[in-house]
Amino acid sequence: MNANRITLTRPDDWHLHLRDGAILATALPATARCFGRAIVMPNLQPPVATVAQARTYRDRIMAALPAGADFEPLMTLYLTEATSPAEIAEAARSDLVHAVKYYPAGATTHSESGVTDLRNAYPALEAMQEHGVPLLMHGEVTDPSVDVFDREAVFIERHLAPLLQDFPALRVVLEHVTTRDGVDFVRAAPPTVGATITVHHLLLNRNALFDGGLRPHHYCRPLIKRETHRQALVEAATSGHPRFFAGTDSAPHHRHAKESACGCAGVYSAPAALELYAEVFDRMGALDRLEAFMSFHGADFYGLPRNRGRVVLERADWTMPEEIATAEAPIVPLRAGEKVAWRVRAEVEDRRAS
Ligand code: NCD
Ligand code: ZN
Repeated sequence: MNANRITLTRPDDWHLHLRDGAILATALPATARCFGRAIVMPNLQPPVATVAQARTYRDRIMAALPAGADFEPLMTLYLTEATSPAEIAEAARSDLVHAVKYYPAGATTHSESGVTDLRNAYPALEAMQEHGVPLLMHGEVTDPSVDVFDREAVFIERHLAPLLQDFPALRVVLEHVTTRDGVDFVRAAPPTVGATITVHHLLLNRNALFDGGLRPHHYCRPLIKRETHRQALVEAATSGHPRFFAGTDSAPHHRHAKESACGCAGVYSAPAALELYAEVFDRMGALDRLEAFMSFHGADFYGLPRNRGRVVLERADWTMPEEIATAEAPIVPLRAGEKVAWRVRAEVEDRRAS
């Protein structure tokens, strides 16, 4: 399929960092312009670790939504070694918390409160299995003796596979899968296991970290990997397999925090995320499978209704700005200063099933 104009059911972003304050005010409209819902990551400082904190964070998000926007933040809790089964039960009863996020302590931005040993979180995981709350996993070991490009593959072998044995009914998402190993694992896993795939891991291989010089805006966790892994991700995303779905991991940081002697991890893709996913599928001749990946598979996995509204994408070149202002400091988006080949044109109809 090679159309110049495609209409999709309004998509969802199953892995998004919205932050707070000035960045929230900039990042939220960038997603809400075309996505109907997003799984909102809880790695604020302090982390969103309780249902009460998720509720007040959700209120701040709703207050920052542009007038007329129709967007639903799907909140998550940050798993700590102190997360209690009672908190999980409350999350399951709430209508706002949809999942719990696991960060290995020290793996990425604001992960200091994360888990040092999954066994310390077993009481919470038991409760999640019992109440049907999905576990979203940042799938990297933090063992300093493991090469940083191998940390996903080692995580799968050391932690994910044993976890699934211990919790056969727990729904698990391998977030931002980056390797062929991860894709193969998910394909072979039971239907309780899914994976999100970011657009930057579909577009870039690790050469993009060093293209003519050090490229801090391509630095994220987990790292972008070698070409064979990128190809495996593209195959998975465009295959129509129902347990792979879009999760941008759009993770804005101020320009100065990235262009630094010790720069932060995170790629800000929201300003063109849907358009760039379309580029990937277009190149593969798979535009007819874009809608399922963007708009169906994630909702089905989470047991939520698919969105009802539509977005229209058209083939039209535009140039991403070099930077995007916030009330504090600018953010450099993915594709800064370069061409994007698709554009979101319009929306029609109400977006959600009532
Ligand atoms: C994320 C962030 O900045 O919050 N960074 C990233 O590189 N993906 C954290 C995360 O999801 O790992
Ligand atoms: Zn993330």
